[in-house]
Amino acid sequence: MSQDLFEAALAARAKAYAPASNFSVGAAIRGQNGKIYAGCNVENASYPEGWCAETSAISHMIMDGEQSLVEVCVIGTGDIFCTPCGGCRQRLTEFGSADVPVHIAKDGGIVDTISLGELLPASFKLEKP
Ligand code: THU
Repeated sequence: MSQDLFEAALAARAKAYAPASNFSVGAAIRGQNGKIYAGCNVENASYPEGWCAETSAISHMIMDGEQSLVEVCVIGTGDIFCTPCGGCRQRLTEFGSADVPVHIAKDGGIVDTISLGELLPASFKLEKP
């Protein structure tokens, strides 16, 4: 079930633009509609202007008209255990509930699964109308 997300994250990582850090990241999100939205990190010569793989994936989801996510997979480079950064935890939480599984992967596959609520406890969330 999560294998398709892993493969989408892996394929997205191959498209990363990361000349500044040389650390490519791929992310894949499953929307409530069942579709998979993938993204990579996109860096910039003006370093802080880059953005994360999760942010790219969220943009694809929103542009497709989906506003709810049910599963996430992230893969970094090499042996680093690549969890979403603080900002991306907040961005993912905007569209997903605390029990959403976030799979952390390495080249061989998913190595751990942490819920969004564990990644960002006591998160700030406005009620949606
Ligand atoms: N990065 C992501 O894209 N997602 C993460 O979960 C962690 C970090 C990116 C940001 C930057 O382009 C590179 O990894 C090195 O920090």
